[in-house]
Amino acid sequence: MDSRDAPPSSASPEQAYLSVRRIKKKFGDLAVLNGVSLEAPEHEVVSLIGASGSGKSTLLRCINLLTIPDEGDVWIDGVRLPLSDPSRPPRRITDKKAVRLARARLAMVFQSFNLWAHRTILENVTEGPIHVLGVSAAEAREKATALLDRVGIADKRDFYPAQLSGGQQQRAAIARALAMEPKILLFDEPTSALDPELVGEVLKVMRDLADEGRTMIVVSHEMSFVRDVSNKVVFLHQGCIVEEGGPAEIFQSPKTEACRKFLSSVIQ
Ligand SMILES: Nc1ncnc2c1ncn2[C@@H]1O[C@H](COP(=O)(O)OP(=O)(O)OP(=O)(O)O)[C@@H](O)[C@H]1O
Ligand SMILES: [Mg+2]
Repeated sequence: MDSRDAPPSSASPEQAYLSVRRIKKKFGDLAVLNGVSLEAPEHEVVSLIGASGSGKSTLLRCINLLTIPDEGDVWIDGVRLPLSDPSRPPRRITDKKAVRLARARLAMVFQSFNLWAHRTILENVTEGPIHVLGVSAAEAREKATALLDRVGIADKRDFYPAQLSGGQQQRAAIARALAMEPKILLFDEPTSALDPELVGEVLKVMRDLADEGRTMIVVSHEMSFVRDVSNKVVFLHQGCIVEEGGPAEIFQSPKTEACRKFLSSVIQ
């Protein structure tokens, strides 16, 4: 057992549903994450808030190793994602197959949808289950159809992404994420590229997912949504978590000046 396997605090990462431990990330000389630790219990929604540039997207990307943290580890369901020893940089993924599977368990929904432009909506949703999970084409299609129905765009299954509105594309992206039967859904500002009148339809789908007990980590500037659905709100400031707590605690009585300032800038 090397030192990274030792639990740094009282709770052991092996027992957590998702555990992020002491993540550090620099881009060149810029220290973006300065030792961030976070836990997401099963069935809970954890929201990350903070000013632009505070490291929210980088943290989400480190969780599914789209960005490799310089130090620190991520544990999913008691299993540490395989990264090389941080004392011998550059750090790299040591087991690509394990990470592919882990990413499938950590479906991410991006601000810019990231649908495949040359595939139909149905194909966008069936691709992952067929090629990553090994599901048969017929089963994948049946499941995808049900998911598209759930997010309210069953009638768009044979269209291409460019033929859908932004809100419909984002709902397709959520259906695609759900098709992978993820343990955890990661959302990075899923509504911020949308016209205001389309935001509500995406937030409604996300609210339903929270209500059915999905484990979610959400970066959003929609503060009323964050306040309503989160079990825990985490405030990131200059790459550190400086406050975390229940939504009432964070929104009504922020303890730090940085958090107070941030909230007053985003809440009218
Ligand atoms: N690949 C990269 N190369 C260099 N710098 C990067 C890279 N990715 C992020 N950064 C820098 O890291 C800092 C944090 O970026 P990040 O995208 O995590 O912020 P954020 O909190 O998500 O901000 P926003 O609310 O604007 O999305 C920024 O200063 C950004 O310019
Ligand atoms: Mg961001």
